[in-house]
Amino acid sequence: MSLPNKVKIVEVGPRDGLQNEREIIPAEVKIELVDRLSAAGFANIEAASFVSSKWVRQMATSSEVMAAIRRKPGVVYSALTPNMRGLEAAIAAKADEVVIFGAASEAFSQKNINCSIAESVERFRAVAQAAKLHGIRLRGSISCAFGCPYQGEVPPDSVADVVRRLRELGCDEIDIADTIGVGTPGQVRRVMERAAREFPIGQLSGHFHDTYGQAVANIYASLEVGIAVFHSSVAGLGGCPYAKGATGNVATEDVLYLMQGLGIETGIDLDAVVDAGQFISQQLGRKAASRAGNAIAAKRRFA
Ligand code: HMG
Ligand code: MG
Repeated sequence: MSLPNKVKIVEVGPRDGLQNEREIIPAEVKIELVDRLSAAGFANIEAASFVSSKWVRQMATSSEVMAAIRRKPGVVYSALTPNMRGLEAAIAAKADEVVIFGAASEAFSQKNINCSIAESVERFRAVAQAAKLHGIRLRGSISCAFGCPYQGEVPPDSVADVVRRLRELGCDEIDIADTIGVGTPGQVRRVMERAAREFPIGQLSGHFHDTYGQAVANIYASLEVGIAVFHSSVAGLGGCPYAKGATGNVATEDVLYLMQGLGIETGIDLDAVVDAGQFISQQLGRKAASRAGNAIAAKRRFA
């Protein structure tokens, strides 16, 4: 199959990227990050998470962030909503898309959202119905689709089963997520092809973490089977509080550099993303985890 001409990159740095930071990041910093990202050309930014602050403290400023960002027309600002309480907060915050997040692994479902996969789907039903009623886009996310920190292997059929359940809830897009970054390209091809038997491939997305350095290769393998939506995090920020040892999402700068090289259109200004990556890394007091981002920043210094 030939590669797509165009892909959608969903920037998840402000949520997935920052949720695991120990020090509470001031809302103003998160707001500036989101605004820099919308200015860079992203059509979809995951900006908030309406979860229990007892479970993820860093996301407690989500309403404040959503209220103060400069909304760029046409940009979809997404928020995670594990239950009705989260959905109500997302509606109040004027989120354009809500994300129900389950897992392909029973063990991870229990650790992350404190219920079984079947219970989570029941909980999501009301969230999905209410989102539809309010005309809000609905995305489903499936964690641990390539391996689980508690259970180990996750069969492709388990992923496909959750894809089917999320399809039945009316999801507009479904993420196949490598939460702990253990997947490899052959496996990615198999899982994506299996998932595509349950849901249109154009509405499936690849959400890769880079723990084992396979994320860019996994994106390439996904492109080869027809996936055209990818999640990434500026400066490679990230990690999941319920997946110890997992590193950040694949860095957006690296993904954009890959797409540029392949001649695949993204609509995003790589230089502006490099600036955003340097900005947030300075705020966090460490070097960006993006190879391309750091290379471009270094080249500028010596130009
Ligand atoms: P629970 O303890 O089973 O439920 O948590 P609960 O109903 O007993 O709630 C506990 C407390 O939280 C209560 O407060 C609730 O009111 C409150 P208390 O009465 O004790 O004072 N609460 C809420 N507060 C704010 N917003 C809410 C909300 N709901 C309840 N929406 C629950 C169940 C789902 C709430 C909890 O497990 C939770 O919040 N989990 C979220 C975990 C999380 O955010 N993980 C990271 C995101 S997933 C991820 O990163 C993976 C992804 O990126 C893809 C990938 O990489 O794989 C998406
Ligand atoms: Mg993630």
